Amino acid sequence: MRKPFIAGNWKMNTNSATAVALAAGLAKELQGIETVDVAVCPPFVYLQSAAAALSASNIALGAQNVYFEGDGAFTGEISCAMLKDCCCTYVILGHSERRHVIGETDALINKKVKAAIDGGLLPILCVGELLEERDAGKTMDVVEAQVRGGLEGICNERIAAVTIAYEPVWAIGTGRTATKEQAQEVHQAIRALIEKLYSKDIAAAMRIQYGGSAKPSNTAELMAQPDVDGLLVGGASLKVEDFTQMIKTVA
Ligand code: PGA
Repeated sequence: MRKPFIAGNWKMNTNSATAVALAAGLAKELQGIETVDVAVCPPFVYLQSAAAALSASNIALGAQNVYFEGDGAFTGEISCAMLKDCCCTYVILGHSERRHVIGETDALINKKVKAAIDGGLLPILCVGELLEERDAGKTMDVVEAQVRGGLEGICNERIAAVTIAYEPVWAIGTGRTATKEQAQEVHQAIRALIEKLYSKDIAAAMRIQYGGSAKPSNTAELMAQPDVDGLLVGGASLKVEDFTQMIKTVA
């Protein structure tokens, strides 16, 4: 049985006051939730204050990115050890905004996934197609290449650290959620690919989140799909009420 996993991606939102208020509000509302793994991923600069606000809760902390080198002359970058030092458990990697706005490649993302695992973090590897790729019937080609690329060289012993998030780019921040059938189809295909690359047991244990305009009103139907094990939530994770409602729906 895969335990549901709901993560909030705050992206480049909040400030020092609202980040703490959001974390503290969630800590209060989600007290005692044990049947769902919950994480929030604030901007780097608010990780420590969010960690303090979450310290008495079951809510884990994640970052939105990391650099693959250990330390040294990498101006502007953040290491895995720094994230661990700020109480992070998870790190989102390969988010579509980093792929398509910042220009990250599968090769770079793969280095980050490996560094995260080696550094004791749990990566959430995001994959997903653009609208023109879906319209051209290339969804699975794109997703397969991103999964293979992101996981290249990661052996059976290390893969358990990874969560995959399927996030169709056309559904992110657009209000246009994938239908439950579209989500299930891709999730099932990703699980079949993991079975091919690893093993039946590893595929059965791998958590695959859906992301892209997930909100309270579509949480139940998405989570009812057999291969949807959780959600990576952007906009709706910035409101205590919405994110809490989503987690309570799943719990
Ligand atoms: P959204 O973002 O929920 O605002 O669509 C999801 C994500 O980008 O992780």
